[in-house]
Amino acid sequence: SLPCDVYAAAGTPCVAAHSMVRALYSSYSGSLYQVQRASDSATADIGLLATGGYANAAAQNSFCAGTTCIITRIYDQSSKHNDLTVEGAGGAGAADVGAPADALPVTVGGHQVYGLEISAGMGYRDNATSGVATNGAAEGMYMVTSGTHVNGSCCFDYGNAETNNKDTGNGHMDAINFGTECWFSPCYGSGPWVQADLENGLFESNLGYSTNSSNTGTGAIPFVTALLKNNGQDHFALKWGNAQSGGLTTTYSGGEPSTSSGYSPMHQEGAIVLGTGGDNSNGSIGSFFEGVMTSGIPTDAADDAVQSNIVSVGYGGATGTTGTLGSASEISLQATTSCCTTDFVRHQNNAGVLSAITSGSSALDKSDATWIVRPGLASSSCVSFESRNYPGDYLRHYNFKIYRQPMDGTTTYRQDATFCPTTGKSGTGTSFASYNYPTKYLRHYNYNLYIASDGGSNAWDSATSWTDDVSWAVSSPWAP
Ligand code: AHR
Ligand code: AHR
Repeated sequence: SLPCDVYAAAGTPCVAAHSMVRALYSSYSGSLYQVQRASDSATADIGLLATGGYANAAAQNSFCAGTTCIITRIYDQSSKHNDLTVEGAGGAGAADVGAPADALPVTVGGHQVYGLEISAGMGYRDNATSGVATNGAAEGMYMVTSGTHVNGSCCFDYGNAETNNKDTGNGHMDAINFGTECWFSPCYGSGPWVQADLENGLFESNLGYSTNSSNTGTGAIPFVTALLKNNGQDHFALKWGNAQSGGLTTTYSGGEPSTSSGYSPMHQEGAIVLGTGGDNSNGSIGSFFEGVMTSGIPTDAADDAVQSNIVSVGYGGATGTTGTLGSASEISLQATTSCCTTDFVRHQNNAGVLSAITSGSSALDKSDATWIVRPGLASSSCVSFESRNYPGDYLRHYNFKIYRQPMDGTTTYRQDATFCPTTGKSGTGTSFASYNYPTKYLRHYNYNLYIASDGGSNAWDSATSWTDDVSWAVSSPWAP
C-alpha cells in the first residue's frame, strides 16, 4: 500500500498529501501539481500515468516546450484539498516566487519525473486548511527530500505553521526542518539534520541542542526520508532514513522543549508551509519529492511501512538507458587526448575536473563521474548534464570554468549549463559547444575543465592539442 493507505489503515489518516512524483493513495487519479508557462502565462495540471501511479512528466515537457514553466500549485491528494500555492510576503521575507518546473528531474519507479527544487526566495503555503492539527492536537508528518541541496539559512520546512505568515510565538509551528542550520549548539557532525521547527528554534531535543552525539546528520545522500511526530502535549519524535534503502533511525523521542515556555502544550495554527520558515524566512534551499501530514500520531509500525514503500519505488534508480546522448541516458565522458584516455569528467569539491577512474575506483568516485543526459536547459536541441549523485545539479560554466551547481532557474544558468553536441573536432567522438559561447567547447586543460576556444587570451584556450582536448568519447556510465 501507498503511504496514505498505510496511515489510514493505522487510524491516522493523511490530512495533507503532496507529491511531485507519484500518487500517495493507491486510488488517487487526480492532478499532482500545476505548472504555468512563461510564454503566455497559461497553466496546466500535471497528473498521473495511471491511477495510483507516477507523474506524467511528458505532459509537462510538451506543455512547456520552447518556453519555461514554474510550479504554481501542489495539489493535496487527501479529501481535505489543502493545496499549496506560491507563498506571499511574511514577517521575515518578501513574497516568494514559484520554483522552476524542470530543475529537478529524477527517476522514480523507473519513470522520469520532476521534483521541486527550492532556491532562496521560493516557498509554498496554505493558510486556510481543513483537518490539520491546531492547538495541541497530535499529528505526524514526513517528507522525501535530498541531502545534496541544503544550506544553513532559515528555514527549509514542511509542516504546520502560522496562518498569517508571521512569528506568533513558541509552539505555533510544528514542521520538519532539513538543512545545516544549527540553531542550538551543539549539533554533531556536519549535517544536514532532520530537526523540528516548533517556532523560534530548530529542535533536536527537548533541550534544543542535540543530546545524541551519534546524530551527525544524513550526509550528502541524494534521497532522504525525514519524519516528525508530535502529540501536541508532552512528546515529539524525529526520525530519518535513506529513501533508497533500509529503515528509519529515531534520533530523538522525548518531551516537548523545556528551553522556554509555549511548547507544552503546543499551539499549532494549522497552516501548511513548504520551503520557508513560519514567518517566510526564505534564505534556505532544499528539495521536495513527496510529503504527508496526518491527523493523530502514527504508530512506529505505520512509519516503518511507509519507509518500506518509499524504498520500494526506487528513487533515483538508474534510468536503464546508457552510453548515448539520448534523454535520460546515463553516461561517462572520457578524454580522447593520448595523455588521458583513462580519464573522465567528474565533479570534485563542486568543480568539474578530469580524473582517472578505473573499475577499482570507489563508488563515490564512479558516481561523481556519471552524468544523466537531459534536454538542454536553454534549448532542447542541445543537452545538459545532470550529476548522478547530486539530483538537480548540472555541469555549468562560470567565468569559463566548469562547476557542478544546482539549477537556479535563471536564464544565465540555463545557458551556462547547455552544451550542443557536434562531431569531435579531432574527427573522433563528440565535441560540446557552449550554448551561449558557441565558439568555445568543453575542454580539459591541466586536468581542469573549461569552455575554451581554439587559441585565445586564457591559458586554457591554448591551440596546442585543442582539437583532441575538446573531443570526448561518450561512454558507459561508471555508476551502476
Ligand atoms: O523557528 C525557526 C524560525 O524562526 C521559524 O521558522 C521562523 O518563523 C522564525 O524566524
Ligand atoms: O563562463 C562565462 C560567463 O561567466 C558565464 O556565462 C557567466 O555565468 C559568468 O559571468
